[in-house]
Formats: sequence, C-alpha cells, structure tokens
Amino acid sequence: MTVRAILKMGDPRLLRVAKTVTEFDTDELHLLITDMLDTMRAASGVGLAAPQIGVDLQVVIFGTGEPSARYPDAPPVPRTVLVNPNITPLPRSGTDPMLAEEEDWEGCLSVPGLRGLVPRFARIRYAGRDQYGDTLDRTVDGFHARVVQHECDHLIGRLYPTRMRDLTRFGFTDVMFPGVEVEED
Ligand code: NI
Repeated sequence: MTVRAILKMGDPRLLRVAKTVTEFDTDELHLLITDMLDTMRAASGVGLAAPQIGVDLQVVIFGTGEPSARYPDAPPVPRTVLVNPNITPLPRSGTDPMLAEEEDWEGCLSVPGLRGLVPRFARIRYAGRDQYGDTLDRTVDGFHARVVQHECDHLIGRLYPTRMRDLTRFGFTDVMFPGVEVEED
C-alpha cells in the first residue's frame, strides 16, 4: 500500500495536458492504479486523477460502489478505472435537443477545504479503456456524470474553480456547510 502525496492547486504539474497511455496491462500501469486507489481511499475521496499525484498520464479512478453521502438517493457510482477517456455531452432526454447543464457543489483533493458551485453537463456518454485495455462505454447522468467530468478535467489541466461562473459561490466548506461531512474529488 502506497499513499502518494496529492498535489495542490498552484503546482504547475496540475496544469499539464496529460499524455495518452499506449501500453495496457503492464506492471507500471497496475502499480499506478493501486497507488491511486490507496491514495483516494486514504483521503476519503470519490475520485482521483493521475496528474494529482504528479503522473502525467490520462488515467482517472472514481466511484466507491457505495451510496454517496452527498447524494444518498443517487445510484452508487461503480468503482471505475478509466484510461484515455473521451466525453460526449448528451441532451437530457431523447426528445430534448438541448445539452442541459446543472450546477452543484464540488470539492477537490487538490483544493482542500474549499467548495464551489460548478456547472456540468447533466448527461454524458464517456468512453475509454480500463487498465487491461478493455473498452468502456457508458451513458450516465447526475452525480456520476459530474464526477467523470471533474476527473477528466484534471487530464486537461483544469481545476473546478476555472469552470465556475460565480466566484461568490466559492468558499470554505466548514464556513458554508458547518457540521456537514463532505467528500472531495
Ligand atoms: Ni479534483
């Protein structure tokens, strides 16, 4: 078990566009993912991207397989390893042509202690590979869609404050949500 240090906002390594993974099912990739899972668990996070531990590769993990404290009524996000992802925003329903956005609160392990209100696409399709090179292709909405967009943003050097539209909705968790236990991505 190796818990790695999580880089914090201001570190230039969080601003890079991560490199594509070209080899799957390798010892190096499995070791990276084990370290990421250990690190995410130790930090009680709901997601983690490789750049957050200083690794310049398109690898994210998310989901605990358990109900989220923030979204107890949402279906649990399955524990997922996603490599070389791409995201396609979708209309909220088959008949609605508009790409709907919704705002909700986010935190980030690289921006500790803070939360902000962030617009995200309500419904997305995401595709990529797992650590073995097998294809993953899912259509999701709500909290699951939000977590995927948050994690994949780390792969293009974006932290959630740069997605916010209203910085008056950015502040310290313990001030804005006193007494509430919260998770961070
Ligand atoms: Ni994050």
